Amino acid sequence: MAFQYLNDRLHCESVDLKTVAEAYGTPNYVYSETILQRNATVLKTCFIDRGFKVSYAMKANSNPEILKLFHSFGLGMDIVSGGELKLAQHLGFTSDEINYAGVGKTLEELTLALEAQIAHFNVESEFELEQLNALAGSLGRQAPVLLRLNPDIDPQTHPHISTGLKTNKFGMDPDLISSILINPLEYPHIDFHGLHCHIGSQILNPQPFDDLIDYLAAFTAGLEQKGVELSDIDLGGGFGVNYHDAFEDILTTTPYLESFAEQALGKLGQYQLHIQPGRVLVANSALLLAQVLGNKANGDHKFVVIDGSTTELIRPALYDAYHAFYPHEKQPNSSTGDIVGPVCESSDGLAKGREISEVQTGDLVAFASAGAYASSMASTYNMRPLCPEIMVGVDGGIKLIRRRQTFEEMIALY
Ligand SMILES: Cc1ncc(COP(=O)(O)O)c(C=O)c1O
Repeated sequence: MAFQYLNDRLHCESVDLKTVAEAYGTPNYVYSETILQRNATVLKTCFIDRGFKVSYAMKANSNPEILKLFHSFGLGMDIVSGGELKLAQHLGFTSDEINYAGVGKTLEELTLALEAQIAHFNVESEFELEQLNALAGSLGRQAPVLLRLNPDIDPQTHPHISTGLKTNKFGMDPDLISSILINPLEYPHIDFHGLHCHIGSQILNPQPFDDLIDYLAAFTAGLEQKGVELSDIDLGGGFGVNYHDAFEDILTTTPYLESFAEQALGKLGQYQLHIQPGRVLVANSALLLAQVLGNKANGDHKFVVIDGSTTELIRPALYDAYHAFYPHEKQPNSSTGDIVGPVCESSDGLAKGREISEVQTGDLVAFASAGAYASSMASTYNMRPLCPEIMVGVDGGIKLIRRRQTFEEMIALY
């Protein structure tokens, strides 16, 4: 167990988090290399060893040290922008290890990716297909494409992270996909390799995935009867984690990974299968470490004000997300209150109406499961510099994997 209380003080491995705060200040993110390795090992065993291609969805956390670690386990990269492409190339991911997803890609981004000869473009609209076909033709290339299908399946997750319903902007209508694949010669510079689906994120109930696999099995069988030959199916990401217990193992929080792989192989095993997980690989690998600025009350409503905020962890404000709260010094809960940051927004709260222990000015506190969609969604709102990221290694050593942004760097942009 990487994050744990030792002598009633919160540690990562054997490192007291107070040591990290003293060395790098707060707020900061503390990552456990042990957990990252464990998560990558599980994904490798469940999927890569069964013949799947796994591309990590870089948007979940794009720290280069984390990307390099995943690369060493054989994971490729699922990118959604020209910037993510540049980072993957910079880190030495080869062209066949990069897939490009996303509902809107600029002509400049499409050109960059064509020139990089990436493995797949996951195309989400007719207009994108037309633009890609024209660009590929002008560059004398063929573009390898998976068409992203919108299956109208409810992923049973928060509406802001549902992507597989007709009312979501993502993917293409199944009838449109059929008509494109039946007449592929209308797009002479596109090589149609297959289909892609990503129905949503933080999916805890495996039923929507079962429905997706059944849907794709029926849909591809129908296409085959019409003479359409496909080679690849990408089932996307979306595997959910338990945000209520930060200390749980990935196989406890997401117990259905293995059965998902088996089911997909059983029903779609004739295709090269792909997945693009993000959250499940990184969410439980980090804490947001912050310091208490003070306690206050408006009437009988209690607030703990800390130096961490929505600029470091936007998920509670964006999705009403729950992140477990741990004081650095373990003590029983004694009151109920909101834990809020200094940012000038009423939505700048990290926990609402939470049972909490007595914490005082200067105490350290942590929000768990801050490895996914935390640092990658961070902003500099209120001119708050991006905060440091620290990795505690498997050997117990501490490594700074992103330093704190300086005010000079922020001002230099102007
Ligand atoms: C196309 C695509 N693939 C993969 C992912 C990763 O999802 P998750 O982090 O839930 O695994 C996302 C997340 O939004 C996505 O949009």
